[in-house]
Parts: sequence; structure tokens; C-alpha cells
Amino acid sequence: MARFEIPEGVVAVEDYEPVARERLSREAWGYYSGGAADETTLRWNREAFARLQLRSRALPEIAGGGTQLRLFGQDFTHPILVAPTAHHRLADPAGELATLVGAGGARAGMVLSTEADVTLEEIAAAARTPLWFQLYIQHDRGFTLDLARRAEAAGYGALVVTVDAPVFGMRNTEQRAGYKPPKLSEHANLAGLHTSYFAYAELGESLMFGGFMDVAARWADIERLRAVTKLPLILKGIMCAADAERAIGAGADGIIVSNHGGRVLDTLPASIEALPGVAKAVGSRVPVLMDGGIRRGTDVLKALALGASAVLVGRPVLYGLAVAGPAGVAHVLHLLRCELEIAMVMTGCSRLTDIGPQVFWEDQ
Ligand SMILES: Cc1cc2nc3c(=O)[nH]c(=O)nc-3n(C[C@H](O)[C@H](O)[C@H](O)COP(=O)(O)O)c2cc1C
Repeated sequence: MARFEIPEGVVAVEDYEPVARERLSREAWGYYSGGAADETTLRWNREAFARLQLRSRALPEIAGGGTQLRLFGQDFTHPILVAPTAHHRLADPAGELATLVGAGGARAGMVLSTEADVTLEEIAAAARTPLWFQLYIQHDRGFTLDLARRAEAAGYGALVVTVDAPVFGMRNTEQRAGYKPPKLSEHANLAGLHTSYFAYAELGESLMFGGFMDVAARWADIERLRAVTKLPLILKGIMCAADAERAIGAGADGIIVSNHGGRVLDTLPASIEALPGVAKAVGSRVPVLMDGGIRRGTDVLKALALGASAVLVGRPVLYGLAVAGPAGVAHVLHLLRCELEIAMVMTGCSRLTDIGPQVFWEDQ
């Protein structure tokens, strides 16, 4: 079958998963699909959506509706964005350039990972769709600030600073599959990074506290970033009201409720379960987004009903890319958008701002 063809019978986002598994190497599959430890949170991210029941409305009179929204001064056709995920060349030889074409085809915003296989400048030059840059705060702080400046100069619309991964999770599936990540300084966007900051503890000493955490990212880094960039700062990986408060205090313009797709600390709750508490604490001060387990348009509707302005999608985009390149990415995003529109009609919502707690069965 031709590389860009969508296989027969692939009609829903989750249909991509088994086909992607066949097409990817064992190592890449382990890296993309795996979560932390026993993958409990990874499972909960899906299961929690299934537990939320919807309420349909008969004969909705909602002609003239739509899914458009404005976020951080940018216009989006719909609220489904590509989440930042690393190493797209494992799925497609053109890497993130192929993903970008697919996102553009589906009119979806995209967040490029710090650990992309293509430079942020190359991606920005090719972009025809809203583009944000995901920033990992490196131990080399000078390099990190330069990376933020590079993203601003290249025309990115926001910086998404990931705050939930100060250490690597115990990703056992990935380890069992024999996946070996490239060295940090070998990443396309990290050439010239000083990695001598890593302190290796002697055997028998505490590993994390034997130097590693002395140089890990902290709240003061957010305040420094705030001072060096005019771009909106969105903190990704907030799971509780206290951290949301702290994020706003440090100057964040937006928050993404996320448990990193269940990849860092296992047995954290599902993102959709953490969302209401964060959304309530934040109120209307800054937009709240969420990711983790979105596989259906009804999941998008539920996230919006619980306080998210938009959602991000991680693994399904990688699976679409692995199966059918840019066409697969566009198809995955398009399916979610179609399903969202159907769910909106069925629950009587003509615009995103109409979506609220009334879409749930419990609210009667
Ligand atoms: C293979 C893979 C790589 C990822 N790389 C990054 C990354 O570089 N930066 C980041 O902030 N999040 C990263 N994430 C987390 C995603 O941005 C997102 O939070 C998660 O995938 C959402 O869950 P989902 O896969 O169920 O949609 C990665 C996730 C996966 C699956």
C-alpha cells in the first residue's frame, strides 16, 4: 500500500494504533506508546472519559454554529491542537515537517517539542497554521533563554513551558523495548548545549538529590523567562489548584492540565479528573487547556464542558504519522473535529462557549 494512503477500515482515531504498531520498529513503538511504571495513569486517562455520561437534547435549533475560537491573540478553526511530542522521525523521514503539513491540512494548531528532530526555524518557515514552541528548561540556563529568544524571533505564537518532568519517569515499556534516546546535545534544537551540569552520584548515594535537583528547573526560572520574552507563557503539566495559583503568580498567561500522557509519575489521576479543580481555581484569569487520553470528539466536548478552552492530542498524531504521513495526521485531527461537531449538535451547543456542565447526565 502506498505510504500516504489511509488503510481501509481506519475510521476512528483508535483504529490507527494497531496499524502504527505494525509499521513502527519495536523500540519506537515502546517509546511512543509507553507510560510510566505500570501505566495505571495511562489507562485512567482513557477510562475517566468513558465514565462521564452525556445528555442529548432533542431537535436542537442551532443553525449557524461553529467551532472557531481565539486564544492568546490567535485565531483557531477548532479547539484541537497537536501536543508537543519528541522525535517524529521515528514515524516519518520528514519528521515534524510532515506533522506540520498534516496539522495545516486539518487547520489545527501545533506545538513543536524542544526535542523535535527538525530545527524550530525550519518548522516556523514552513508553517501555515498557528504554531507554539514547547520549552524544556535545560540545566544550561543561558542556552534555555536563547532558545526562548530563537522561538520568538522565528515567529512562534506562544511558549509552552513543560513543568511536570524535572526527572525522567520510570518508563519500563520503553526500557523493555530497548529504546535509547539520543544524547541531549544531539537534538536538532539543542546543538551547543552544555551538558556538563549533570552530576552523577556515586553508587549507593541518593540519585536525584546527589546534585541533580540542585540544577533542576524551579519557579524563579519562570519569572526569568517572563522577563526575557513578550510571548504568552503557557505552563504545561499543572495538576492541582495550588500549582495553578503559583503559575499565575509567576506570570503565566495560560495553563495546560496534563500528566504528560501518563509518562512521568504513575498513579497520578487522569487529566480530565484534575481539570475541574484547576479550572475552578483559575476562573477566568487565564485560559486553561488540557491533554491526556483524548481519542474521541466526545472527549473534547467533555474537556470543554469541564473548563478547558482547547485540548491537545499526543499519541494519536504520532500513530497517524506512522501509518500515512501528513495524510494520517490530518485524518486523525479531522476525525476528532467531525466527532466534536456531532457531539455539539447532539448536546444542543452551537458554539464552543455554549458547552458547559449541562452536557452531562448528572446535571439534570
Ligand atoms: C512519544 C511522546 C513524546 C512526548 N514528548 C514530549 C515533549 O517533548 N514535551 C512535552 O512537553 N510533552 C511531551 N509528551 C507529552 C505530550 O505533550 C502530551 O502531554 C501527552 O502525549 C498527551 O497524552 P495523549 O498521548 O494521551 O494524547 C510526549 C508524549 C509522547 C507520547
